[in-house]
Amino acid sequence: MSTPLISVENLTVEIKTDRGLLKAIRGVSLDINPGDSIGIVGESGSGKSITLKAILGLLPNNARISSGKIFVAGKDIATLDNKSRRALLSHNTGMIFQDAIAALNPVIKIGEQIAEVPRYRLGKSKEESKAIALSLMEKVGITDGESRYGLYPHQLSGGLRQRVAISIALSGSPKILFCDEPTTALDVTIQAQVLRLLSELRTNTGLGIVFVTHDLAVVNELCDDIRVMYAGRFVESGSVKKTFSVPTHPYTFSLLKAAPDPDQSVHRLFTISGEAPNLTQEVIGCPFTPRCFSATDQCSVSEPELLPIANSQSACFNSAEHVNWAAEESKNGVTR
Ligand SMILES: Nc1ncnc2c1ncn2[C@@H]1O[C@H](COP(=O)(O)OP(=O)(O)O)[C@@H](O)[C@H]1O
Ligand SMILES: [Mg+2]
Repeated sequence: MSTPLISVENLTVEIKTDRGLLKAIRGVSLDINPGDSIGIVGESGSGKSITLKAILGLLPNNARISSGKIFVAGKDIATLDNKSRRALLSHNTGMIFQDAIAALNPVIKIGEQIAEVPRYRLGKSKEESKAIALSLMEKVGITDGESRYGLYPHQLSGGLRQRVAISIALSGSPKILFCDEPTTALDVTIQAQVLRLLSELRTNTGLGIVFVTHDLAVVNELCDDIRVMYAGRFVESGSVKKTFSVPTHPYTFSLLKAAPDPDQSVHRLFTISGEAPNLTQEVIGCPFTPRCFSATDQCSVSEPELLPIANSQSACFNSAEHVNWAAEESKNGVTR
């Protein structure tokens, strides 16, 4: 197989906090290629945003990559100086965050904000940059670009502002777009529009998408692949189709049970009783054990690795059993 465009290998991230050193990410590996659509799900605090920030070189000052490697276009980014690293990342990646709308500059015309990367980073002329901005506006469905070019963010609806944020994210022609809950703050209709737009961009331009969310319905709609995150690790990894029909990790199982029917466009936080572990303390055994419905003795002794099972990967000692259950359930006509 050829080298992935982005490859994260066994990444760990530590954060200095008031409560001590937090092991926020504990061995995450991920390959990302153009055209991929990978949904990362997990409850709040599981490490989704920190994973993205680590890849994009945007970790907060109190956080550091303590081990593991990140390769972009075959280059280990830790070996590059800041300038080369930023250039490599901005050439290949774009991002939209939950507060993307808030990140727009209120006193600069939207067209100029979209033209900024072509103008100042890619060194295009003023006219070329404007043309690029206008074509981006068209691409993301901002109609009437010429007359809207000179508007300020507050003169646009929430949905249009989010489209502006997306066109800014696309303005460096990234191959991979990282999205961190970009639709959480939007109402359901606008959320659906944004998802459709991302889906079209992927189909039409081969954009790769990494989409962080706590909403399984969104993953079902947008993504081919899923990574389920718990306590700083991926505990299940596979195709969305497979994972939704045959979850192999009890956490995924619980998420799917707790979530509304993924085929319905009901968007709700999933809740599972109990709490995630405190990662400032050493993890002994599987961190999901206290909340797990199928934990056995060995689960409180050692932490299972993410290993292949039934065409996906699962970090659970009892995965084989879960696969059998799911098979039984589907035989008996139980649908999830
Ligand atoms: N700047 C920070 N300072 C201290 N702790 C942080 C900081 N950012 C994130 N964390 C902690 O790191 C863990 C992972 O956070 P995050 O990746 O933001 O979770 P998620 O995006 O899955 O909700 C959490 O325990 C969170 O409290
Ligand atoms: Mg987050």
